[in-house]
Amino acid sequence: MSEARRPFRFGLIGAGVAAEIHVAAMRTIAGVEVHAVADAAPERARALASRHGIPEVYESGDALAERAAVDAVAVLTPHHLHLPYVRAAARAGRHVLVEKAIAHTVAAADELIEACRAHGITLAGIFQNRFTPAARRLRDTVANGGLGRVFLAAVTVNEYRAPSYFLTSPWRGRKAEAGGGVLMIQAIHMIDLLHWVLGMPRRVLAETHTVVHDVEVEDLAVGLLEFEGGVTGVLQATTAAVPAEPPSVEIRGDRGTARVSGSWGHLGFELSTGAPASGQDIPAESDPTEPAVEPYAAQIADFVAAVRHGRPPVVDGVEARKALVVVDALYRSAGTREWVTVDPVPSAAPRR
Ligand SMILES: NC(=O)c1ccc[n+]([C@@H]2O[C@H](COP(=O)([O-])OP(=O)(O)OC[C@H]3O[C@@H](n4cnc5c(N)ncnc54)[C@H](O)[C@@H]3O)[C@@H](O)[C@H]2O)c1
Repeated sequence: MSEARRPFRFGLIGAGVAAEIHVAAMRTIAGVEVHAVADAAPERARALASRHGIPEVYESGDALAERAAVDAVAVLTPHHLHLPYVRAAARAGRHVLVEKAIAHTVAAADELIEACRAHGITLAGIFQNRFTPAARRLRDTVANGGLGRVFLAAVTVNEYRAPSYFLTSPWRGRKAEAGGGVLMIQAIHMIDLLHWVLGMPRRVLAETHTVVHDVEVEDLAVGLLEFEGGVTGVLQATTAAVPAEPPSVEIRGDRGTARVSGSWGHLGFELSTGAPASGQDIPAESDPTEPAVEPYAAQIADFVAAVRHGRPPVVDGVEARKALVVVDALYRSAGTREWVTVDPVPSAAPRR
């Protein structure tokens, strides 16, 4: 069998919410198989394996990384475990797909990127929204000058998470494990789209608060972001919004406004330029009950193709690190209540 036709096998470390989405997406990609799963709670790994016919179950992520006959490992654990499991996978010569946030700190992200580079393996970080037609339309509209001179951007994340969200997975409420709250877990998706469209901000100013949930991390964040060319960004993010509404990124220029909104990968796009409607809009699904598998599948397929053709994936480690760098700058500003300069340059990590 030729290399291109051999099944591409994934092993999953972490069998929680993200794992279900990954399995659903991987199963839609021809030539891709989910071969193994590991979880610190073995019953979770066994349950996922039996639901989806995954042949091998491992008692630990390290054992899977070392012993499973897989081409790549998907790291789907709490954020503070991304670095050790990516390291283990890289040491074993497995390619790595890691969920957002790439790591719980920028320093951990740098170590993780360096480990993959040192072992010559391909690293991609999940930001599935970039693979939606709506997000691409937003980026193209701005890049093609469709809004005229851009002067304002707004990231609005009015989500709601019930107490059970933190009780079932307590790491989500712990700073040392998640790295942060609504900025790190929810808003990071829209922050990724924001810098993808406008480039990295030069500096940020932020406040964070824990207003409703009984957790260490913030459930409310507000901020300002200053971009090249005099574009001002405003950010508001909370997991305590009642009622919740679809998160959005809105870009305003002197000739129009464009907006993406939606959650779970169901993103819509709206463009208002004052010109008669010209069919560019993509309707946002108002209340999706299941995540959209297509954007995930598109990103995973890009990763598999990157490994097979020896090219970098669209969202490589350096690219996945950028949203974390912005989030980190927002946290540092919230600590000092002062503007913080954003340093987008990885310390020593070349692209891979
Ligand atoms: N891209 C998205 O839209 C999206 C959606 C959900 C979650 N995520 C990301 O996926 C990752 C996991 O989040 P989740 O919501 O699935 O969390 P979760 O708590 O539902 O699942 C995490 C799993 O990791 C397991 N685990 C904990 N410690 C472990 C260890 N030492 N070794 C092996 N397994 C261990 C837990 O038992 C649990 O089953 C995070 O990075 C999160 O941000 C991304």
